[in-house]
Amino acid sequence: MAARVRLAPSLLNADFGRLAAEIQAAEAGGADWIHVDVMDGTFVPNITLGPMVVQAIRRATSLPLDVHLMVAEPRRYVGSFVDAGANVLTIHLEADRHPHRTLSEIRARGSQAGLALNPGSPVALAEDLVEDLDLLLVMSVNPGFGGQAFIPRALRKLRQARALIDAINPACALEVDGGIKLHNARAATDAGADVLVAGSFVYQGGEGPAANLVALRQTLA
Ligand code: DX5
Ligand code: ZN
Repeated sequence: MAARVRLAPSLLNADFGRLAAEIQAAEAGGADWIHVDVMDGTFVPNITLGPMVVQAIRRATSLPLDVHLMVAEPRRYVGSFVDAGANVLTIHLEADRHPHRTLSEIRARGSQAGLALNPGSPVALAEDLVEDLDLLLVMSVNPGFGGQAFIPRALRKLRQARALIDAINPACALEVDGGIKLHNARAATDAGADVLVAGSFVYQGGEGPAANLVALRQTLA
């Protein structure tokens, strides 16, 4: 039987003035991980937060921190984010000329190593890295902003990624990030995703983060 799907609310659309309360609301709704989006204004147009804020988030929760680095040359920051408390540290394939080296360093420092693929990057580019991964992230939007529409072709990529993981490294998690809502969450897990990131769905609108997460879980039942 497939493992239980993990829900990883993204704080990108949370109220940054009340981060601890926003995290507690996600915990109350059954969040499995807290997804933290780090953007540098170079790899992506937006700028978000750095290791100091990850440290503050670390103090606010005992849930695993799933830190998504959307930064150029991420190897420069592996140590800072591991020390700040990242349990999973994900780099972008497109941001690093030597992803294998960086992924090895993440593991050597004691975090789990994740690799993210932009919508334009084929799954095949990850083929020779999957055995060294704890997580493969298929982006279903172009990274940089919350609240964008899910790119339907991501479902085909998830199926391809699921086949690759099952063949080479079944322990590797398969995460999808971007535009996940009630109407497409089930399609994403049916395609093989076992970690769902959801930002604007959780933190904007509805009945609040806890109730929104409960609804997301129910749609997967
Ligand atoms: C996009 C980020 C995502 C995003 C998710 O660059 O990596 O984590 O914030 O937000 P939604 O669910 O609104 O697409
Ligand atoms: Zn993300």
